[in-house]
Amino acid sequence: MNTHEEKEFSSNYDFAIWKNLLQYLKPFRKNFIVLAVFMMILAGTDVLIPYLAKFAIDHFIGNNTLDGFGYFVMVYAMAVLTISGVVYLFIKEAGKIEAGVTYSLRKKGFKKLQELSFSYFDKTAVGWLMARMTSDTNRIGEILAWGLVDFMWGISMMTMIAVVMFVVDVKLALITLTVVPFLAIVSIFFQKKILRVSRKVRKINSKITGAFNEGITGAKTTKTLVREDENLTEFQEITYDMKKKSVRSAIISSMYMPIVISMGSVGMALALGFGGNGVIMKTISYGTLVLFVNYTVQFYEPIREMARIFAELQVAQASAERLLSMIDTESDIIDGDEIIKKYGDSVDSKRHNWEPIHGDIDFKDVTFYYKEDEVILENFNLNIKSGQTIALVGETGSGKSTIVNLACRFYEPVKGDILIDGIDYRQRSQLWLHSNIGYVLQTPHLFSGTIRDNIAYGMLEASELDIIRAAKLVNAHDFIMKFENGYDTEVGEGGAKLSTGEKQLISFARAILANPKLFILDEATSSVDTETELIVQEAIQKVLTGRTSFIIAHRLSTIRSADRILVIEKGKIIEDGTHDELMNNEGHYFNLYTNQFIDEKEIEVINK
Ligand SMILES: Nc1ncnc2c1ncn2[C@@H]1O[C@H](COP(=O)(O)OP(=O)(O)OP(=O)(O)O)[C@@H](O)[C@H]1O
Ligand SMILES: [Mg+2]
Repeated sequence: MNTHEEKEFSSNYDFAIWKNLLQYLKPFRKNFIVLAVFMMILAGTDVLIPYLAKFAIDHFIGNNTLDGFGYFVMVYAMAVLTISGVVYLFIKEAGKIEAGVTYSLRKKGFKKLQELSFSYFDKTAVGWLMARMTSDTNRIGEILAWGLVDFMWGISMMTMIAVVMFVVDVKLALITLTVVPFLAIVSIFFQKKILRVSRKVRKINSKITGAFNEGITGAKTTKTLVREDENLTEFQEITYDMKKKSVRSAIISSMYMPIVISMGSVGMALALGFGGNGVIMKTISYGTLVLFVNYTVQFYEPIREMARIFAELQVAQASAERLLSMIDTESDIIDGDEIIKKYGDSVDSKRHNWEPIHGDIDFKDVTFYYKEDEVILENFNLNIKSGQTIALVGETGSGKSTIVNLACRFYEPVKGDILIDGIDYRQRSQLWLHSNIGYVLQTPHLFSGTIRDNIAYGMLEASELDIIRAAKLVNAHDFIMKFENGYDTEVGEGGAKLSTGEKQLISFARAILANPKLFILDEATSSVDTETELIVQEAIQKVLTGRTSFIIAHRLSTIRSADRILVIEKGKIIEDGTHDELMNNEGHYFNLYTNQFIDEKEIEVINK
């Protein structure tokens, strides 16, 4: 179901992505500048210390004097102190950047997830989203902070070493650095290879994450179907592939390092050979030789680091690309600028401008599909008066939930309009409509936390009294009080510690707490026991009065008193009337009802 298959990412650096990412880094501009300055100071001191050694050798040993030794010791001590101080400071600063960037990206991502419409979640796997929000944000924060540390330090140090080398002795500098172009060529060659395999590894890795996710969320289903063996085989195939590619990646990486090290040694040999010769010929000082040897060692260290950083940068680029693709997704359902100006958005809901909702709903020639080749509703018309209770019945997949979700603007019509109180609902903000809806989903979801948290979920400012009133209205109060901890009972993840009936009643209380003008109940097919069923039914009757409501009921006894019963077949209304009218018609509803009634009677007889 994951339509966000790992794309082929180009092997080049994509500056558009980094530019896009930059806007999220703006708040940290100061930290980045501070960090860069720290790293330059550190590199400068790192370069200074061998130079001090050269000075000591040439001046104190060469001249056999202790002239100015006090100053020398002071400068040396200061250099060492500077290093310790800067290391402390840069670790702190980089840590701040890492945490800050990760935090702000997660905040952005989470906000986006709250805004995206139903259709986005239809086509995006939970595991994919989780990976974006956790590992990708982490990786970006890490590379930006620590990658930058190494990068700034490396570049500054190499430049400074090269400069000092040339200032001290141009010829020797040229000789020692002849290996650099070769090293660059080899590095580029290996980089390309390493990137290619690591991209393959990443691609498989995202498959593995997906499989993990399915394996974990579907663990119960797997067990009930005894599919463990098959799943394991499938999983092993992917992981085997992963192992093969990972080993290949490791082999290539392991070839690169020795080459860098050998080339470094060649550089060192050149410095020693030509430098040593120079010392004998007295064209350079002994101190200069030591300086060049030390610098050669120092010079190749960042090169090795650099290879790692570039590889990480590539991975981070892929992370950024995926994360930003999520953050930049335009929701299918958005409020226009004009509308936000008048009705506000989720940050600043201008409630004072909101018209009170009356509750008339009008579907005008609505056409709708999830996938273009599979039209669910075509030129659908339905007019509902405020305060009416509309029951929808029909076979599974006939489009009942779809109709209701359209009325709620969780999806929008592809063609045609839906009017609320006579005005196209796209003329008002989503929040305006959604604040007026109480919706009990077909599969009610509870969040981990207490029963109280769950009831107050949509209205955090609700008082204890409001919460209890809502619970009483839906007949949930009694069973809640039977728990040892009452309203403080933990419901477990997804409400796993409660029965289906209990979950239903709590989601009822939650839906009714804000006293919504529109009420929707999409009844779960899984039936609850007869006693709870009665409680639920009574609750429904109480809740519906004074609201425009849709009830999708599989148990027809629930809807006998509805103002209108619509029988839906393949997205069309094939019958429309009250219970009595439809029974007199002796049509579809009549058949459904009598059959179900007979079934229920039979079950009762069998159970006796
Ligand atoms: N998110 C979705 N993406 C793609 N197709 C969907 C989606 N939701 C529903 N459908 C399809 O639309 C049609 C109508 O589905 P809908 O959920 O409205 O049926 P329903 O009448 O509520 O069924 P049930 O009684 O089983 O709840 C079905 O063919 C279904 O496969
Ligand atoms: Mg449904």
